[in-house]
Amino acid sequence: MKESSFKKKKIGVLMGGLSREREISLRTGKAIHKALLEKGYTACPVDVSRDIAERLMKEKIEIAFIALHGRYGEDGTIQGMLELMGIPYTGSSVLASALCLHKIMAKKILLHEKVPTPPFEFLKREEVEREAPRKISLPFPLVVKPAQEGSTIGISIVRREEELLRALKEAGKYDEEILVEAFMKGKEITVGILNDIPLPIIEIAPRSGFYDYHSKYTKGETEYIVPARIPREKYLHAQEISLRAFQALGCSGCARVDLMTDEEGNPFVIDVNTMPGMTETSLLPKAAEYVGISFGELAERILLGASLKTESGK
Ligand SMILES: Nc1ncnc2c1ncn2[C@@H]1O[C@H](COP(=O)(O)OP(=O)(O)O)[C@@H](O)[C@H]1O
Ligand SMILES: [Mg+2]
Repeated sequence: MKESSFKKKKIGVLMGGLSREREISLRTGKAIHKALLEKGYTACPVDVSRDIAERLMKEKIEIAFIALHGRYGEDGTIQGMLELMGIPYTGSSVLASALCLHKIMAKKILLHEKVPTPPFEFLKREEVEREAPRKISLPFPLVVKPAQEGSTIGISIVRREEELLRALKEAGKYDEEILVEAFMKGKEITVGILNDIPLPIIEIAPRSGFYDYHSKYTKGETEYIVPARIPREKYLHAQEISLRAFQALGCSGCARVDLMTDEEGNPFVIDVNTMPGMTETSLLPKAAEYVGISFGELAERILLGASLKTESGK
């Protein structure tokens, strides 16, 4: 049985890392490490830096639980290294990780697969001064985002043309490609997916109206409602398109799909997170708990999905 064979292996919980979401990752990693120890696994924390390959060899890590967010953790790079080293790892493959972290590439695939996503345009950093706002034809309000970042870093809501250039420059600080997306006026919801099964939907209601870094990680700044208060038909539709997004992008294990609804309550996928936050108060564990899956069980299920994906062609 997989569980007993995993109990004999040395598991490294890879956390921290080099991205701007380092602090959140440390919180996620510590919670996972504690849960795995409680479940009887031999797990040790591994703070990821440039010498990670050497460290994994020295510590004789046999399975990697990836608890990293953002670049070098959620973007396929560490996954590629683990594939080469032959160390099975949790979560999505190199390709799925890279696609999901790159919001423009992810949206191109969602469009192709007819998964609803807000209308969008994109441009390169060097086009900002030269061509914007001429290049943008979507009507206001808009949301401007760096192609690859998380935790709402570098994102602005733009209500008037005069604000556009500043928002583009701000996003351009974080990535050379910039996404400009139609602003959706409805509710914000998120759907956790665990091994191809959508979990109950969580509705996110930030007190400030914008789910930014502060609202995401400060206690009491955001209200979370499970299950989301949306009509049954739209609820099921949101779960269905979230699962389709997960599958279209080739995700494995768990993910959290962020959506916004329009004024009529129709859901649109805005963001697929292949390594969602996993502190005891994060959203994926909250949704899992609602269907009776404890934090420890969730961590264990994710762990037991660890594999090498290149071999199987996935
Ligand atoms: N198209 C949109 N319409 C309205 N709000 C949006 C839109 N896109 C993003 N947001 C807001 O910005 C937040 C962060 O955007 P998201 O695309 O999820 O990026 P991140 O990777 O930083 O989580 C969302 O949680 C939501 O509150
Ligand atoms: Mg998001």
